[in-house]
Amino acid sequence: MMRLFVIIQIQKDVNDVAGSSAELKIPTHIAFVMDGNGRWAKKRFMPRNYGHSEGARSLKTVIRSLAELGVKYATFYAFSTENWNRPQEEVDGLMQLFDEQLDSLKEYEKENIRLLFIGDRTRLAPGLIEKMAECESKSADRTGLNVIIAVNYGGQDEIVRAVRKVAELAGEGYIKPQDISGKFFESLLDTNGISPVDLMVRTGGEKRLSNFLIWQNAYAEFYFCDTLWPDFGKKELIKAIEDYTSRDRRFGKVSVSKADA
Ligand code: FPP
Repeated sequence: MMRLFVIIQIQKDVNDVAGSSAELKIPTHIAFVMDGNGRWAKKRFMPRNYGHSEGARSLKTVIRSLAELGVKYATFYAFSTENWNRPQEEVDGLMQLFDEQLDSLKEYEKENIRLLFIGDRTRLAPGLIEKMAECESKSADRTGLNVIIAVNYGGQDEIVRAVRKVAELAGEGYIKPQDISGKFFESLLDTNGISPVDLMVRTGGEKRLSNFLIWQNAYAEFYFCDTLWPDFGKKELIKAIEDYTSRDRRFGKVSVSKADA
């Protein structure tokens, strides 16, 4: 009896998340620009950092839904190389929020979630760098959803850092110009080993990339919505995946129907 109840409950949860999940094409890698926290807070006459805290709550809801749907990689743009130019109070608040949130994020053991970070860590506080490394090592053997958090990340900065590594390797005589292929270059990016982005979601109404995963988004499908990030949840995520399911991904080729014509 108990066993039957558990099976029915699992089926109900899947249906709640995915509606008719069988019809959805689940992207391997979804990237999120979590925009709109500040406006969400302003609408409530609250400080911007309150919006970021509520954004962290949404982040956790989305992570659980992604794991249930069987998504393999999800990258979240938490702090860009340009975000240092925000008011000091907001920067400090964000850094404190990351520090607090990492304690709960690393606990996703039951959900089999692995945590990874991309971006230049050298400018971050030593305590935060230590916690990030601890999250990565503690979750390294988990085989479910890979959650990748971009902190002090910029797509241009990532490419410049990779080019520097190429120059160092060439300077020390390890590689020749003809050894540099796309695959080799990719292996020097922060996202080494992570598959390219299939679906890029940006909340908050703006329609731009903002220096996020420039290389990895080369053939991504883009989904923009007006929902502010703290209001983005399971339902909105399903809408984005439904939209992705309807796209004809050609990767520079022609679609089968056009080729036949
Ligand atoms: C952009 O919205 C949002 C950010 C720069 C910060 C995003 C951070 C979180 C959601 C917290 C995540 C927590 C962890 C642990 C990774 P905005 O402030 O630019 O919004 P606005 O356009 O309305 O001003």
